[in-house]
Amino acid sequence: MDKLLLIDDEADVQYSFRRIFDSPQIQLTAASSGEEGLKILPKLKPDLVVMDVRMGGLSGLETLRRLRQIDAKLPVIIMTAYGTTHTAIEAMKLGAYDYLLKPFDVPKLKQVIAAALHASRVMRQVVSYQPMLESEDYALGIIGRSESMQNVFKLIGQLASSDATALITGESGTGKELVARAIYHHSRRSEQPFLAINCAAIPENLLESELFGHEKGAFTGAVAQRVGKFEQCHDGTIFLDEIGDMSLQTQTKILRVLQSGTFERVGGNQPVQVDVRVIAATNKALEQAVAAREFREDLFYRLNVVRIHLPPLRERREDIPLLINYFLQKIAQSQIQPPRCIDPEAVGALEKFHWPGNVRELENVIRRALVVAKGEVILRDDLPPDVVAAPGSLRSAASSLASSPAVAPSSEAPDVSSLAQALFRWARTDSQLRIIPAVERELIINALAETKGNQVQAAKLLGITRATLRKRIEKFGIKQELSIK
Ligand SMILES: Nc1ncnc2c1ncn2[C@@H]1O[C@H](COP(=O)(O)OP(=O)(O)OP(=O)(O)O)[C@@H](O)[C@H]1O
Ligand SMILES: [Mg+2]
Repeated sequence: MDKLLLIDDEADVQYSFRRIFDSPQIQLTAASSGEEGLKILPKLKPDLVVMDVRMGGLSGLETLRRLRQIDAKLPVIIMTAYGTTHTAIEAMKLGAYDYLLKPFDVPKLKQVIAAALHASRVMRQVVSYQPMLESEDYALGIIGRSESMQNVFKLIGQLASSDATALITGESGTGKELVARAIYHHSRRSEQPFLAINCAAIPENLLESELFGHEKGAFTGAVAQRVGKFEQCHDGTIFLDEIGDMSLQTQTKILRVLQSGTFERVGGNQPVQVDVRVIAATNKALEQAVAAREFREDLFYRLNVVRIHLPPLRERREDIPLLINYFLQKIAQSQIQPPRCIDPEAVGALEKFHWPGNVRELENVIRRALVVAKGEVILRDDLPPDVVAAPGSLRSAASSLASSPAVAPSSEAPDVSSLAQALFRWARTDSQLRIIPAVERELIINALAETKGNQVQAAKLLGITRATLRKRIEKFGIKQELSIK
């Protein structure tokens, strides 16, 4: 049974609450002032407090402040007839779970209270959700227990003690830069500079001069000599991010530095000698760029001496709970707050998602959830809808798309293009999905359902011949699902 404490000085409200909530599942206790509420609180140990903001004596906000000192985690819902943003913000800042306006809408009131009671239960059950993390995981700042990540750690260790060039590959957000920094930190060059250059972010014509510098007058605008990153980084480590986005001319120069440690500044002819370790990264398939002659084959082999591939997060789902916990702690530390917990149900939903943006996206989702979560615990409802609605059936996606503004039914002709775009965006979250056959199958099932299995009519609706429809029905094995006349 859940214990609900109502603090309100109005007899009417107390009466309504008794009528609505007193039941075998909920034990309702009422207090007529903040002082009285605070007095009975320690003994009663309620699961939820619902409180008016405007009361004689101690105000609701003051009561909330004091209540927080007694129990920091107890969910409190604030009610008021004077709905100002100010009170709402103040109440939320003081850690109120939610905010309700009087007179209340009974279904909404019930819904909010049920959600708060659920949060309260979860909070008490899971004091904290913490898969064990070792201190070394933190020291390295790279979390992962999966076999593939263990291999990555081994390679980092091996590379750290050498001066070899390394190529780090993996989708966006898988931690390539993090790994590059880890190699540097553990290498003998850790006291020397580390410079990261994003080759994709610098216009092609400027990249060469950025990396190698230029002589005065080398090109229009080169008013003075400039020292490039390779020279600045002498004795250190240079991280060339997005190396696939480099012009062939710059690639040639990089190859030469790797082979002989020398280069010339743009517009110069004096060779400059440097000792720089190169770590490169890319989220493109460099082999394909080599095949298409966009990337020099010799440079590719030179970089590829040691390759560290970071698998996408969806291929190492066992790391997801560890990462969640790591981010909760990391974010709490940066905000000088104790870490918050997460409902195992929410963890379950996060484990199922496809994470097209990989670890970076997971971190962003956790950050957002911490902002949205009302209580101490992150619940499934605090997660973005597209993450929670893991790619299930195409039908569920179609129904959610149908209600999106882009494709909402209107008096105008249906916009097939925006519907297809939305569907395509959604389908990209599932790398396994073969979207055209999947959609075709659903369209046929819908047409057959609408025409009650009449193939002639269904074919007409779909804009195909009956013979084609028959072939598709057979191909997709639709017969078993519908009794077709
Ligand atoms: N294994 C991990 N453990 C902890 N944090 C991680 C891990 N992998 C990635 N991150 C975090 O995710 C974010 C993205 O990582 P990073 O910038 O290294 O990715 P990237 O592969 O370089 O992405 P992009 O290709 O988009 O540049 C960073 O905030 C990083 O700290
Ligand atoms: Mg990066």
